[in-house]
Amino acid sequence: MNSRVKSESKYKAKISGTGRYLPEKIVNNYDFEKKIDTTDEWIRTRTGIFERRYAADNQATSDMAFEACLNALESAHMSSKDIDMIIVGTVTPDHPFPSTACILQKKLAIKGFGAFDISAGCPGWIYASDIARQYIENGSAENVMVVGADILTKITNFDDRGTCVLFGDAAGAVIMSRAERKDISLVIDSEIVADGSYYDILVQPAGGSRMPASEETVRKNLHTIYMEGNKVFKLAVKSMETACESVMQRNGFDIKSIDWLITHQANLRIIESLGNKLKVDPHKVIINIEKYANTSAATIPVALDEAVRDGKIRRGDVVLMSSFGAGLTSGSLLIRY
Ligand code: UT7
Repeated sequence: MNSRVKSESKYKAKISGTGRYLPEKIVNNYDFEKKIDTTDEWIRTRTGIFERRYAADNQATSDMAFEACLNALESAHMSSKDIDMIIVGTVTPDHPFPSTACILQKKLAIKGFGAFDISAGCPGWIYASDIARQYIENGSAENVMVVGADILTKITNFDDRGTCVLFGDAAGAVIMSRAERKDISLVIDSEIVADGSYYDILVQPAGGSRMPASEETVRKNLHTIYMEGNKVFKLAVKSMETACESVMQRNGFDIKSIDWLITHQANLRIIESLGNKLKVDPHKVIINIEKYANTSAATIPVALDEAVRDGKIRRGDVVLMSSFGAGLTSGSLLIRY
């Protein structure tokens, strides 16, 4: 049971900059038609995806995250020296250890503060934001680089038509900063939830201590994503609905007071179904799944940055974000941008 209550904090947090990185290579549904038993029509109608971006062979998660961070620093009018914490939500780190956040810290030429990864599946960025918010609110950090970055295509089984068409690669970065009294921008609240009883319906089976890498694990494709899509689908809608309702209720918001809804971009039908359940005006729902597919922890920060730069989300708008993924995890973040 989630027993979080809203407590008064010493400081408030705000979002002071956003950035994203999408790799250049575009793979569309027709490219899959040539390789596996699928059609553009199936992919489009069942998922809403038309194309996705793939990282280059020599690109790792920190390479993409670095570009997104530079972008975020520019938008916040900050230099990397202003950052005093880095948190990266990812399930595809550069290495099992050290953390991608430490590698990113080196790339940004800064040191001397905490940098760590969060493994929380697709809501990795929401989890990271929840932690960042609390560091800022209790006065322990001033400018946290909160990154969501994944290269799922490097752990995808391209013989499994049920999963391989779903994923793309991307990185998103948001700078969460201490707000001043005069600031209109505010991180209102956030929450994170997990239900480990479903850990095995969305899993990368091999490569950890349970099943270390061996010739057999490679031959059986056990280093790639295993997902029971139907089960995940049903739980996704319910979990995000609960996470959204909970954070709105606790802060006295109703759906009419939300200007924009950004949910995890895993399936257009999930996004629409959640929108219907929350009774949100469809024009207020940010959707980019047709271009980028499911980029795991990157979906929300990428969509946020895109909507800000496109001029959709403006300073003062209330934005509700929610995600869902492996763990099973879910969470929500409510901000005034
Ligand atoms: O980011 C983490 C969270 N992930 C998600 O939220 C994903 C949630 N799940 C989903 O988005 C959907 O379940 C999928 C898109 C993965 C699958 O859609 P579905 O409507 O649940 O399809 P299904 O798995 O029930 O499969 C229906 C049929 C099957 O054929 P039969 O057994 O009915 O003959 C599949 O073999 O569709 C077939 N199928 C495909 N056909 C053409 C599965 N993948 C494909 C494909 N092309 N790529």
